[in-house]
Amino acid sequence: MDRFLIDGGRPLEGRVTIGGAKNAALPAMAAALLTDKRVVLHNIPRVRDILTMRSLLDEMGADSALKHEREGNRLVIQARKIPDQTAPYELVKQMRASVLVLGPLVARFGHARVSLPGGCAIGARPINLHLKGLEKLGATVSIEHGYVEARVDRLMAGQIHFDSVTVTGTENIMMAAALADGTTLLENCAIEPEVEDLAALLLKMGADIEGAGTSAIRIRGVGRLHGAEHTVIPDRIEAGTFLVGAAITGGHLVLDRIEPRNLTAVVAKLAEAGVEINVVETASDSTQSHALEVRGRPPYRAADVVTQEYPGFPTDMQAQYMALATQAAGSSVITETIFENRFLHALELARMGADIAVDGRRAVVRGPVRLSGANVQASDLRASASLVLAGLAAEGESLVDRVYHIDRGYERIEEKLTRVGAKIRRISES
Ligand code: EPZ
Repeated sequence: MDRFLIDGGRPLEGRVTIGGAKNAALPAMAAALLTDKRVVLHNIPRVRDILTMRSLLDEMGADSALKHEREGNRLVIQARKIPDQTAPYELVKQMRASVLVLGPLVARFGHARVSLPGGCAIGARPINLHLKGLEKLGATVSIEHGYVEARVDRLMAGQIHFDSVTVTGTENIMMAAALADGTTLLENCAIEPEVEDLAALLLKMGADIEGAGTSAIRIRGVGRLHGAEHTVIPDRIEAGTFLVGAAITGGHLVLDRIEPRNLTAVVAKLAEAGVEINVVETASDSTQSHALEVRGRPPYRAADVVTQEYPGFPTDMQAQYMALATQAAGSSVITETIFENRFLHALELARMGADIAVDGRRAVVRGPVRLSGANVQASDLRASASLVLAGLAAEGESLVDRVYHIDRGYERIEEKLTRVGAKIRRISES
């Protein structure tokens, strides 16, 4: 149970390099199950969820190697044989994105046994749309002893209209359809950049896909897929978190290796609140030659936000935005439309002096307030980021408990923050 001790009130100053996207790397790793050839992934963040997915692939029989390289980490996966098409409860309960192995296993081996993910702090998060999609492709799906069991001789193409937009649901069925017999049409798909990035990898593996990044995706199944090399996109949520970090501390940061077009809604909302953000060209030879420069000058203007599917304001930035809204003059109304229970951070922010009234999926944040350091507890990945940001802005010391949540999606965040002037220290239980 590591904790962060933060001594707040210091502006963040300097340059931060943004890592690869966790939510692009996870489906890319699952996609490696679709072939017996080598899949080489670059710009992989060394975060706990990636290590969990790697353990899952290794446990099923794949070989993998993770190595640091100049730009992030390189991960090589080869799923020659997968004798055990089971994703066990012990691993799935740590990370619900493990469900992403379901589509590839059924597609390549005609069988998958995947533990049901169970409840989550931010919402019920069922996987009914994933299962419905597989059934539409001809799989027989049953649930026994807490496990999804899916079987089929060979998946047959179909037409699938998702009842509601689901990111990993779109990814799972897109991967399954890549090896199905015939042409599948998916409608009402998620258009997140991570979905598009997965399709880019699948195309390199020999898949035949059109329309990824739009709400209608057409997939012509092929007999087999081959190996490929792919660099995953930058993490737009990590970038958004650091934008708020500069804003809430009144600092000045340049974020390197980002893709500005994936951050449009976040940048627009922060600018509406009065945060100064500019896209700057960098001379780096990296694949990402853009950077974002952000200057913070609290207090800000209150601005309402409604979380939406991409390209709307991401739910994964809602908690961080709530922390910033405590430094805005007036009332900011935050409406969470994606998950039914994603305001757990509000009560912890209130311990630091925030004035937040939560009513179901709507929260009203009144400001500006003077945040003061306190002992707080993280409940999920993005909530923990919000508490760290508030701790950086607060007067005095904060102790943020359960930072194992933040390690799931941020690579050594305390080191990145320290390099730009934060006073933050990890306290390990040991
Ligand atoms: C992905 O989760 C992300 N995770 C989440 O990021 C992100 O919050 C979410 O998309 C929304 O943007 C990964 O990509 C690994 P959904 P996912 O299926 O795919 C309901 C983070 O912080 N639903 O798009 O699980 C569901 O309950 C994480 O990095 C069903 O009802 O989200 C939710 O209310 C947290 N049935 C809504 O749809 C289904 O079968 C959207 O969920 C599937 C989803």
